Amino acid sequence: MAYAESRALVAAEAEGDERAVEAALRPRTLAEVVGQERVREQLALVLEAARGRGRAPDHVLLSGPPGLGKTTLAMIIAAEMQSPLRLTSGPAITHAGDLAAILSGMNDGDVLFVDEIHRMSRPAEEMLYMAMEDFRVDVVIGKGPGATAIPLEIPPFTLVGATTRAGLLPGPLRDRFGFTAHLEFYEPAELELIVRRSAGLLDVHLTDEGAGEIASRSRGTPRIANRLLRRVRDYAQVRADGVVTLDIAHRALDLYEVDQSGLDRLDRAVLDALCRRFGGGPVGVSTLAVAVGEERETVEEVAEPFLVRSGFLARTPRGRVATPAAWQHLGLTPPPDGGSPYADASLFDTD
Ligand SMILES: Nc1ncnc2c1ncn2[C@@H]1O[C@H](COP(=O)(O)OP(=O)(O)OP(=O)(O)O)[C@@H](O)[C@H]1O
Ligand SMILES: [Mg+2]
Repeated sequence: MAYAESRALVAAEAEGDERAVEAALRPRTLAEVVGQERVREQLALVLEAARGRGRAPDHVLLSGPPGLGKTTLAMIIAAEMQSPLRLTSGPAITHAGDLAAILSGMNDGDVLFVDEIHRMSRPAEEMLYMAMEDFRVDVVIGKGPGATAIPLEIPPFTLVGATTRAGLLPGPLRDRFGFTAHLEFYEPAELELIVRRSAGLLDVHLTDEGAGEIASRSRGTPRIANRLLRRVRDYAQVRADGVVTLDIAHRALDLYEVDQSGLDRLDRAVLDALCRRFGGGPVGVSTLAVAVGEERETVEEVAEPFLVRSGFLARTPRGRVATPAAWQHLGLTPPPDGGSPYADASLFDTD
């Protein structure tokens, strides 16, 4: 798994002790949040209206890929409402009883943050429907015919759910959120502002060009931008005078093998095999995986999503195909007819 080991640098998910580092870089107010203009404005309105009425705001669903600011926004909602935030996650709620215990401990106006809400168990989900709508749950005591449901009132609270997979949420749950915010990937200019803000907090000296370079290799994701900034800072400190210039950012990111488009070694290996060995495809993903010496799942789940999003690779019914941009990225000339002498490689694969 030679490639997979170096993934962490451009992985969108948080790694190990990264959460602690991230806490220090989180915007604390809506005004501090960079980008996501529409979501910010809509959320500001929801919160201000609730404050004006002196009531808990409607339940909020935050959806979008990892590292774009869902947890950050959940914390900001509580902070802006000056309400205590209670944190839990879908996988932590395995029984309806777990949820009942949390809900019964809530106070008026509390914000309950349920991360990965799509991973909650079915019975808990059903209890949540009722809690969200009627601020009431039925706690079932006993089993079988003798079981009784004891209704329990819950003070009005705000549920903030976060999910990377909004499509997996059952309709009834989705419908009970008064406001849904879908977070989008960030523009390079926005990421540049985030990098500059983080550098300020971390006491890193960096030039605008240095920030721009880090931003453009961050895959539209603040978490990756912050991570690359920390690695570039290391480089600047050890190999130079500590200042992150364009040249230092360039050299550091080349050393860490994150290229101009934010591709890492595995991403490039996949593209390289696709173009050089299979003439640009179509080729089955299993064949491609063998060619780069990785598991099929690694290629499919780790490398492909970003390659597809960046327009370097297309998934077709006959297999994976390199786009002209992929050839260009590798400094190669695409075949004139777009066809491939190895097109039949797809016949050996069933995917
Ligand atoms: N709009 C933003 N402005 C500034 N920094 C941001 C913004 N969005 C995210 N960040 C930074 O990116 C990091 C990751 O954000 P966050 O933890 O909120 O992502 P997430 O969407 O909850 O990810 P996951 O799906 O993995 O839980 C945080 O350290 C935060 O500081
Ligand atoms: Mg999160």
